[in-house]
Amino acid sequence: MASEQRATELVLRRPDDWHLHLRDGRMLERVLPATARQFARAIVMPNLRPPITTVEAAIAYRERIKSALPAEMNFTPLMTAYLTDSISPHELEHGYQEGVFTAAKLYPANATTNSAAGVSDLSQITAVLERMQAIDMPLLIHGEVTDSDVDVFDREAVFIERHLIPLRRRFPELRVVLEHITTSEAVEYVGDAADPRLAATITPHHLHINRNAMFIGGLRSDFYCLPVVKREQHRQALRKAATSGMSCFFLGTDSAPHPRSGKETSCGCAGIYNAPVALESYATVFEQEGALEKFEAFASLNGPRFYGLAVNSEVITLERRIQQVPRQLGGNNVDPSDELVPFHAGEELGWALKTED
Ligand code: NCD
Ligand code: ZN
Repeated sequence: MASEQRATELVLRRPDDWHLHLRDGRMLERVLPATARQFARAIVMPNLRPPITTVEAAIAYRERIKSALPAEMNFTPLMTAYLTDSISPHELEHGYQEGVFTAAKLYPANATTNSAAGVSDLSQITAVLERMQAIDMPLLIHGEVTDSDVDVFDREAVFIERHLIPLRRRFPELRVVLEHITTSEAVEYVGDAADPRLAATITPHHLHINRNAMFIGGLRSDFYCLPVVKREQHRQALRKAATSGMSCFFLGTDSAPHPRSGKETSCGCAGIYNAPVALESYATVFEQEGALEKFEAFASLNGPRFYGLAVNSEVITLERRIQQVPRQLGGNNVDPSDELVPFHAGEELGWALKTED
């Protein structure tokens, strides 16, 4: 739209990232500032080694995140519990009531990075789901089946049919986020439900690339993530959903850093590191779709509404300015094998986050 193209600045309420991997130790220190300069809060994924399965471990991890935060930055990590076959409903309730756990994360066992200790079968966590429903604690789902006879590209759609639909019938009051959706089936299921207790996060990379990106000119590990990127028709459905303004769709980057040595190897890790330019990446999509006026709802309003939290009071400004994204992020003391390849590496983006003077 002509008037939108002339806009030189985009001012919006400070956004939050509703799905993020911050890792731990040295990696946490490296990646946290990129998120904290853009987002006020983030839902922090618990798939560490070992995973965050207790209130005590979540408190300790939250403290490590706070200590890694540069003094001038203002950022609140929202912690999650990693569901296992044996986690107790009591531990979850205790953490939720104490304000330590904001939600619990369901990884089907072996579905993705550090998910070996995940849930082997939903029947194992019936009591947990009953309790979560009773206390209104949100369930965040990595929605993929792991059956070896199901094609990797069909795993999300099959999960919805086989597991999510029955689960929501059994627990109709449970608040559920289907994380990092990748298919038109997921868009339809979540959108058609029109239920304030069901939502989905959408990553920047699933809005920008389809599955061909992984194979153009050779094998591109920097475009490999889970759930894996799908056909173009799915990307189009995701772009429509994200830019629709519908309150059930909101921002979750799934920024998942792995060092180059973990990606570029015989069995490379899944995960795309998009934190450095996440907002600019999303803004590019909204502009291409002629929907910049819907960006604030997706980035800053729909998530807090689902989680029952206040929207942020500060604002941020994106300015129309060409920004060159580095090919890799290293630094003087970083070995090349430890470099991070950011999403959009080597590309130009048309927006840049304005920093305070
Ligand atoms: C994530 C990671 O590396 O922790 N990887 C990914 O491809 N998204 C795990 C996940 O969210 O599936
Ligand atoms: Zn993730």
